[in-house]
Amino acid sequence: MVWSPPKKVVYLSAAATCASLACLMKDYTGGRRYEGSHRIDKKVVIITGSNTGIGKETAFELAKRGAHVVMACRDARKCEVARQDIVLRTKNKYVYCRICDLASQESIIQFAERFKSGTGVTVNAVHPGIVDTEIVRHMSFFNSTLSAIFLKPFIWMFIKSPGQGARTTVYMALEESLKDVSGKYFK
Ligand SMILES: NC(=O)c1ccc[n+]([C@@H]2O[C@H](COP(=O)([O-])OP(=O)(O)OC[C@H]3O[C@@H](n4cnc5c(N)ncnc54)[C@H](OP(=O)(O)O)[C@@H]3O)[C@@H](O)[C@H]2O)c1
Repeated sequence: MVWSPPKKVVYLSAAATCASLACLMKDYTGGRRYEGSHRIDKKVVIITGSNTGIGKETAFELAKRGAHVVMACRDARKCEVARQDIVLRTKNKYVYCRICDLASQESIIQFAERFKSGTGVTVNAVHPGIVDTEIVRHMSFFNSTLSAIFLKPFIWMFIKSPGQGARTTVYMALEESLKDVSGKYFK
């Protein structure tokens, strides 16, 4: 007679294997992380929309590496909550909130006037991939119970976390070999 494991063990192993595969897939789709040790102590970094999502994760990663981070947000209260969280977690007190509403030319000009700089600015476009952030906050389907039960568990492994979504921007900001690269698109 051939020995076969108890059904419970088979089901549990199958579930554990599926969960591990899902985690591996999530990590794989999360993209390459910046693994260098480059620090940007005292470098001033301005991040728009940084009270949540990809912007906040980028602010966190750069503050961790010593940057002086200016969080350019439209909502002072939300910005302050996020700022305190970043300061506490990074132990970098040089993180500031400044109001900038990107829907208002007046607000953008007021903000920019404080930071007029000379040359040395590079501009690149980055695509973060599909990231699980508040970007769907106004899309009722994605915030519904239906989606939470029938959609999210199945697409979870293919969608990046905010930290993973910030990897491209963080990489661009830190990678030495890209410091003079401008006008390119990265994904
Ligand atoms: N998530 C994705 O899958 C994905 C994919 C491709 C590209 N992107 C791009 O990546 C960027 C960040 O997206 P996310 O997913 O992190 O979105 P998110 O979680 O919705 O965060 C957006 C941030 O932008 C701020 N914001 C919105 N309108 C603003 C305005 N008029 N002035 C100043 N700040 C404003 C929001 O502030 P409030 O909290 O005050 O609203 C928030 O801090 C966006 O440009 C998005 O288009 C995202």
